[in-house]
Amino acid sequence: MKIIDCQAREVLDSRGYPTVEVELTSEHHQARAIVPSGASTGEGEALELRDGDQKRYLGKGVLKAVQNVQKEIAPAIVGKDFVEQTILDSLLRKLDGTSNKSHFGANAILPVSMAYSRLFALENKKSLSEGIAHQFGTSGLTLPVPLMNIFNGGKHADNGIAVQEFMIIPAGFNTFSESLRAGVEVFHQLKKILTKKGLTTAVGDEGGFAPKLSDEKEAGPGSHEKVMTLLLEAIDSAGYKAGSQIYLALDCASSEFVNKENKNHTEYWFEGSGRTSNEMVQIYEKWISHYPILSIEDGLAEHDWDGWSTLTQKLGKKVQLVGDDLFVTNPEFLKKGIDLKVANSILIKLNQIGTVTETLDAMRMAHTAGYTTVVSHRSGESEDAFIADLAVGTDAGQIKTGSASRTDRTAKYNQLLRIEQALGSRAKYLGKSAFKI
Ligand code: PGA
Ligand code: ZN
Repeated sequence: MKIIDCQAREVLDSRGYPTVEVELTSEHHQARAIVPSGASTGEGEALELRDGDQKRYLGKGVLKAVQNVQKEIAPAIVGKDFVEQTILDSLLRKLDGTSNKSHFGANAILPVSMAYSRLFALENKKSLSEGIAHQFGTSGLTLPVPLMNIFNGGKHADNGIAVQEFMIIPAGFNTFSESLRAGVEVFHQLKKILTKKGLTTAVGDEGGFAPKLSDEKEAGPGSHEKVMTLLLEAIDSAGYKAGSQIYLALDCASSEFVNKENKNHTEYWFEGSGRTSNEMVQIYEKWISHYPILSIEDGLAEHDWDGWSTLTQKLGKKVQLVGDDLFVTNPEFLKKGIDLKVANSILIKLNQIGTVTETLDAMRMAHTAGYTTVVSHRSGESEDAFIADLAVGTDAGQIKTGSASRTDRTAKYNQLLRIEQALGSRAKYLGKSAFKI
């Protein structure tokens, strides 16, 4: 497939900050992709290049990354034939020449890589999910179970709650669309409950509610359990059974509340006091015995490998333990995790690593080792629903793409509904067995 044009431009993400869109043209087709952006980013992530020019978009402009596509990448790929994704992506990596994509910026490289996936699919008369399945060697028939973040804390809110995401998992249904409907109904019930309690129902970056539960700056002892109790109330009001139809999941994003002054990164500032890694493990153990929690992401911080090891030994058989900041979608970090028997699942975010090929490599490695994969959005998103096709194309089994509000989140769910309809009776849905626990 010959690329005959490559254009980049600055567009806006869901937070109103600039991001990069790339448009690739072949002889017969054209395809676009927009790169997302995180807020609670892992230290090991590929570099997101920002202009730093305070006179434009508070320093967050991406004109340098756009220029890198136009002036460096485009001349190297336009007029050339790329028969498959791996060839394009390895050229992009070679041209960049750094291990963390800091020369061009991952936000310059990734949209080229994603747009190529779309162009490849079009050229082969396939949908994007089919094109990805073809590359990945999977059936591409599995609709993912949604992990819906309906209550926000941490860096995605300002309510003093340490845990970043409280999700519901409607896993006890036969199809994706039934699961989604149940999840959305719980979201609406939660809104009613919050309103009745006089709490605000404004939504956070990922479309979940983010009310302050008390006037304190730091949410105190028991505040996290209060949130989970609210979620159970909402599940019940929606007419569903918690623990058999709808479960809970947490993204603690604990690298954000670890005490960075403690040199081993093993002290956590949680509900108003300092806790050791072991104490955090005990807290999670207590929570999973009281609440129907299926999945805990980043329960401990990205440098706390010993703590992660204990966490996995103690809870790894009872709950899915997802590494996000810990693995940053990087096959090298994941390999270390597999070797050390740390975590049992990996969060998959394309822009943490910066090419589609490396993302697929990480997913392949995870599947081979028996780790589950959760394809994920970023807190800064766009209308680009690439991850919906990625989740189906790779038979990932799970997707985390926010709540039931904000078009940047629902765009992904809507794309999954389209894929489900197109697959018809061929569509598979794993439900709770996607969690392997
Ligand atoms: P981020 O948050 O996109 O801000 O990193 C999502 C997550 O931590 O999973
Ligand atoms: Zn996370």
